[in-house]
Amino acid sequence: MSWSPSDIPDQSGRTVVITGANSGIGLRATEHLARKGARVIMACRNLDKAEAARRSMADEVARRTEVVELDLARQTSVRQAASAIRERCQSIDLLLNNAGIMWLQEGRTEDGFERQFGINHLGHFAFTGLLLPALRDVPGSRIVTVSSIAHRGGRIHFENIHLDGIYGRQRAYAQAKLANLMFAIELQRRLRDSGAQTRSLACHPGVASTNLAGPGIAEESPLGIGRLARWAWPLFTQSAEKGAWPTLYAATSDAARGGGYYGPAWLKEAMGQPREAKPRRYATDADLGRRLWTLSETLTGVQYP
Ligand SMILES: NC(=O)c1ccc[n+]([C@@H]2O[C@H](COP(=O)([O-])OP(=O)(O)OC[C@H]3O[C@@H](n4cnc5c(N)ncnc54)[C@H](OP(=O)(O)O)[C@@H]3O)[C@@H](O)[C@H]2O)c1
Repeated sequence: MSWSPSDIPDQSGRTVVITGANSGIGLRATEHLARKGARVIMACRNLDKAEAARRSMADEVARRTEVVELDLARQTSVRQAASAIRERCQSIDLLLNNAGIMWLQEGRTEDGFERQFGINHLGHFAFTGLLLPALRDVPGSRIVTVSSIAHRGGRIHFENIHLDGIYGRQRAYAQAKLANLMFAIELQRRLRDSGAQTRSLACHPGVASTNLAGPGIAEESPLGIGRLARWAWPLFTQSAEKGAWPTLYAATSDAARGGGYYGPAWLKEAMGQPREAKPRRYATDADLGRRLWTLSETLTGVQYP
């Protein structure tokens, strides 16, 4: 199977919400979907960066985009962004849970959550639950959540979710990206069981040259390892454009199924054409999925309809 963004069907009349749309994979996805006619709401934490990203687009593409402020590190911002979007859009066809941070030093969100878990997973868990009423009755609607190869090395530390005393940058990232994948799969179970029209899917970009291994890591690395990683990253990765293909495939292909997980085909899913990827068995375990769901509802206070 060969797939490229030229296979994306016409998106006219569709409304898309993308988190972290000003950079990397989110920016490429925004451009492709708007070029195909979608109205794209760019949910971004930094409005200046979001406007700069819009200015970098061709006029006819930028014209179909709008910006809403969303800081996933603050549950109050998640609630404000969701209600601003609900006011602007009667219905949503596609939600891309894309924003993320990686490997930063130990830190907490405004609500006291471990930073990588709080932003990458809990922020998206709450945002999705608050937007779900605008998606669930829309035929063909999808929610796509971006995970990572790194999920393979993780586990959910249910007994110590904020990793007190055992924090490690990779451990926290792996836990958060595993949570993204488990969330997408558990959400699909719940959507199917409730007869909703929406499908939930997951994807990962392989290894792509974006800002993810960017200034944050470089600044926070006392040993210069972050600076080295930042310099070396583009040498061993595919482009941000190619990294966006599995996301766009999961978001638009007729062949992508609810509960499916999509990533690049080659070099142990590091790069190449999008195709169905292999989730770890831990990620598909229904008991663990339910447990993570309950914990996420308790921590965020967001109950799904
Ligand atoms: N690149 C890879 O190789 C790779 C591999 C596996 C998975 N991923 C996943 O792919 C997704 C996209 O990352 P990327 O590679 O495109 O990196 P990126 O270029 O750094 O983009 C990340 C986006 O997330 C936003 N973001 C970070 N913290 C946020 C917050 N608190 N609230 C709202 N938005 C926030 C960033 O905003 P700012 O610009 O304001 O920082 C940026 O727009 C992430 O989920 C990442 O984990 C990437």
